[in-house]
Amino acid sequence: MTRRVPRWRELRPLLQPRSPELDPVKRAHTLHDLRAAARKRVPKAVFDYVEGGADDEISLRRNRSAFERIEFSPQVLIGGDADPSTTLLGAPAKLPLILAPTGYTRMMQHVGEPAVASAATEAGIPYTLSTMGTTAPEDLKGDNLWFQLYVWRDRGFTKDLIARAQNAGFKALVLTVDTPVPGNRVRDVRNGLTLPPRLSLKTLVDGATKPRWWWNMLTTEPLRFAAIDGDGSMAPAEVGAKMFDRDVTWADLAWLREIWSGPLVIKGIQSVKDARTAAESGADALVLSNHGGRQLDRGPAPLELVPAVADAVGDRTEVYVDGGIRSGADIAAAVGLGARAVLIGRPYLYGLMAGGQAGVTKVISILHEELVRTLRLVGANTIRDLDRAIVRLR
Ligand SMILES: Cc1cc2nc3c(=O)[nH]c(=O)nc-3n(C[C@H](O)[C@H](O)[C@H](O)COP(=O)(O)O)c2cc1C
Repeated sequence: MTRRVPRWRELRPLLQPRSPELDPVKRAHTLHDLRAAARKRVPKAVFDYVEGGADDEISLRRNRSAFERIEFSPQVLIGGDADPSTTLLGAPAKLPLILAPTGYTRMMQHVGEPAVASAATEAGIPYTLSTMGTTAPEDLKGDNLWFQLYVWRDRGFTKDLIARAQNAGFKALVLTVDTPVPGNRVRDVRNGLTLPPRLSLKTLVDGATKPRWWWNMLTTEPLRFAAIDGDGSMAPAEVGAKMFDRDVTWADLAWLREIWSGPLVIKGIQSVKDARTAAESGADALVLSNHGGRQLDRGPAPLELVPAVADAVGDRTEVYVDGGIRSGADIAAAVGLGARAVLIGRPYLYGLMAGGQAGVTKVISILHEELVRTLRLVGANTIRDLDRAIVRLR
């Protein structure tokens, strides 16, 4: 083999130093990267509040491991474009994706729910505000906002809350049904997490490494359950005593129907039987969900319920699923098994913690890109082409 001296012309491009990207949001390629960035930005107790599940976190792990059972059977030489858009409750959505309700969102990053709602609106997908949110329904702007309801023991109070959501232009009511009592979040107990977080020796030591988070928290509007506590005067014990009416039953759906005129979604269905009852009760959509593994431990992985539930009620009601979706391929998997759309909770909170609204936008755009790539790789031109010939649980 003859050798030669490389020319300067060939060496020069190799030697050009590239400045490292310091912005963790711009640097992120996957949701896992944003999760790692989020962890570095917020106190441990806050990260654990987002990340944790109930009891031994078996439901939490099952949610994720169900996606490892997915096998795609691609069709080749299909040609054409890949269009991930759909309609949800009759409104167009650019992706089969909904941002799930999460309580106390401003604790993760001070910009909170308004930033998440703006990112969702820009991306053309719905965002669901939680009853336990830190922004009042009247203060949120967005094109397709849904309101998540916990029925309170005080029914008059519940009725007022629904009227406020309706007047503020919320498009759908999402009734969460998997919380007759709060789940046992062991991480929060161990971390001594209080809502809002208090300064203790432990939080001060941890906070010393996250000064920016503490600075933002202390110099912006104090955290409060804005939908339910107008002046921020409710003590946490009072909130606890009023919330989570364990006497809500299927019969209450008729009552909700009387006071809410828009689409009704039931979130937290975990069996085919309950999915049938939800459909018979006139729900416009249901969410197969175990609250991200934060309520009942050892429940079924929602993804694994999708085929049977879609077969049982998919012709009458839209079937959504959440828990463990961390990539566009996961969305394709859920849709292929029969779900109309998926919800994500923790992933957009990772984006928010890592970089505010830009972080949430990045999460949605990564999922978009990954979903389009998956559609192309499995040979589907639209998400309606995804079916159980292409996606199966092995
Ligand atoms: C920090 C956090 C707070 C949540 N708060 C609520 C809530 O207020 N209401 C509700 O219906 N679900 C709540 N959820 C559950 C989510 O709506 C969703 O079901 C779950 O996060 C989906 O799982 P994933 O996080 O793996 O995407 C919360 C989840 C998290 C992580």
